[in-house]
Amino acid sequence: MCSRETAGTAPPAGIERCIARHGRSPDELIEILHALQHQQGWLSPQTLACVARGLGLPLSRVLGVATFYHLFALQPPPPHRVGVCLGTACFVRGASALQQRLARRLAPGWVLEQLSCIGACAQGPVLLVDGQIAAPEAVACSDEVS
Ligand code: FES
Repeated sequence: MCSRETAGTAPPAGIERCIARHGRSPDELIEILHALQHQQGWLSPQTLACVARGLGLPLSRVLGVATFYHLFALQPPPPHRVGVCLGTACFVRGASALQQRLARRLAPGWVLEQLSCIGACAQGPVLLVDGQIAAPEAVACSDEVS
């Protein structure tokens, strides 16, 4: 049991093991959150409560860290995502127009995201479809992203 709010529910699998592996020092908070997000895909309220309890920290401190860093996801991931890089190299090669076309044609269940440079500038404009680099031509030629 991790907190009064989660009383009666089992903690998500692996949280106690993860905390034990990293140690119970508050200095390990960010590493533990990283590991749990990698494991679970996001940080649920129950997970954050368990981490706070496991490290002996106030939940407000854990929430403060989790909400400060953009790479921590506090919502479940969407089923599918397509990201458009809007870094300088991709932008000058038409990423903004591509993003607008995609926004009009996204199928249900897809989320459109803006990305910063992912280091593949020579291939720009770069799309990431479910984490994989995809050719914009392939997406632009389909009726919708699905
Ligand atoms: S600017 Fe888009 S990958 Fe570098």
